[in-house]
Amino acid sequence: MNDRLVTAGRVEEEAQYEAGLRPRSLGEYIGQDRIRDNLQVSIEAARGRREALDHILLYGPPGLGKTTLAYVIGNEMGVSVRSTAGPVIEKPGDLAAMLTNLQAHEILFIDEIHRLAPVIEEILYPAMEDYELDIVIGQGPSARSVKVPLQKFTLVGATTRAGLLTSPLRARFGIVHRLDFYGDRDIEEIVRRSARILSVAIDDEAAAEIARRSRGTPRIANRLLRRVRDYAQVRADGRITSEVAHAAMALLEVDAHGFDEVDRKLLRTIIDKFSGGPVGVNSLAAAINEERDAIEDIYEPFLIQAGFLDRTPRGRVATPRAYEYFGLAAPGRDSRLW
Ligand code: ADE
Repeated sequence: MNDRLVTAGRVEEEAQYEAGLRPRSLGEYIGQDRIRDNLQVSIEAARGRREALDHILLYGPPGLGKTTLAYVIGNEMGVSVRSTAGPVIEKPGDLAAMLTNLQAHEILFIDEIHRLAPVIEEILYPAMEDYELDIVIGQGPSARSVKVPLQKFTLVGATTRAGLLTSPLRARFGIVHRLDFYGDRDIEEIVRRSARILSVAIDDEAAAEIARRSRGTPRIANRLLRRVRDYAQVRADGRITSEVAHAAMALLEVDAHGFDEVDRKLLRTIIDKFSGGPVGVNSLAAAINEERDAIEDIYEPFLIQAGFLDRTPRGRVATPRAYEYFGLAAPGRDSRLW
C-alpha cells in the first residue's frame, strides 16, 4: 500500500461516508487540543482584522484529520475550500488557473504537497509571499516576466512528514502544526459520535474496544465502526455490544493492538531475517515487498509510538515488546551489542 493507493482507496471507498462523519467546526472536532486552541486563536484574530489567515502547514501520519481540519478552517473562516493534491497538478497552468480563480480569503488545500513538481512549487513562492503570479511570456532573449496579482488567499498544505518539503516551501508557512496519534479516550469519543450519526446503538465498552484497535487514527476507527456495524446487523440484533465488537474484529483479523498483516510481517521479518535488527529501511522494504515511503509514512510511526519498533542511527530494531507480542523470548541486550 503506498501513498497513492491510500489516497485512491480513500476517495473510492470512504469519501461519502467520511464526509458525513467529519466534524465541520472546531467545536465538533475531538482531540488534538493544542492545535484546536491555536487554530481558534489564529482564526478569530484573522477574522477580527478582516484578513486572510496565514498559510498553514499540517503534517502527520495519514488518517489523523489533515483534510478534515482544512475544511473546518474554511467553515470557521466562512470561506470556500478549493481542494487538490500535489501529484494531480501536472502543468504550471493547472495551478495558475486555481490560484487566479480564488476569491479573497478563500482556502486552497493541497494534499500531499511534498509531491509537487519543482516547476510547480516555484509558482507557489511568489503566490504565497506576495499574492502574485510570475508568468514568463515567450522564450529565449525576448522572454519577459509578467506579474499577475492574486486575491489574498490561504494555502493549507498537508503532508505526512514536514521533512519531505523543500526548505523554501516550508519557510513560507506562517502556521505549522503536527498532528499526532489520538489518545484512546479521544478515539472512543469519536466512535460514539460517529455511531450517533450512523444511528447505531453502541455500548461504552464496545466503543472502547474499537478505539483500542484503531491505532490512534480516526479514519481507522470510523472504518472499523462501519464493519462492526455490518456484523451487528447480520449476526446480531443490530446493537454493538462488547461481545459483538470482539467477534466482528476477530473475523476482520484486527488484533488487540490494531495490527494488520503488514505490521506483523514487518516486525516478524526484523526478528526472523535480521536477528531483531538493526536493519536499514531499504533492506526492510525489499524484504517485505513494500515501498519505503509506505513503511516510513504509514506503518513505522504507529509501531514506534506503540513501543514495538525503535529507530536507531544504524536502522530499525524490534523491541522486547515485539518479541513478546509473538510469544518469543527477546534476545539479551548483550547478544545485540555483540
Ligand atoms: N471524525 C473523524 N475525525 C474526527 C475528529 N477529530 N473529531 C470528531 N469526529 C471525527
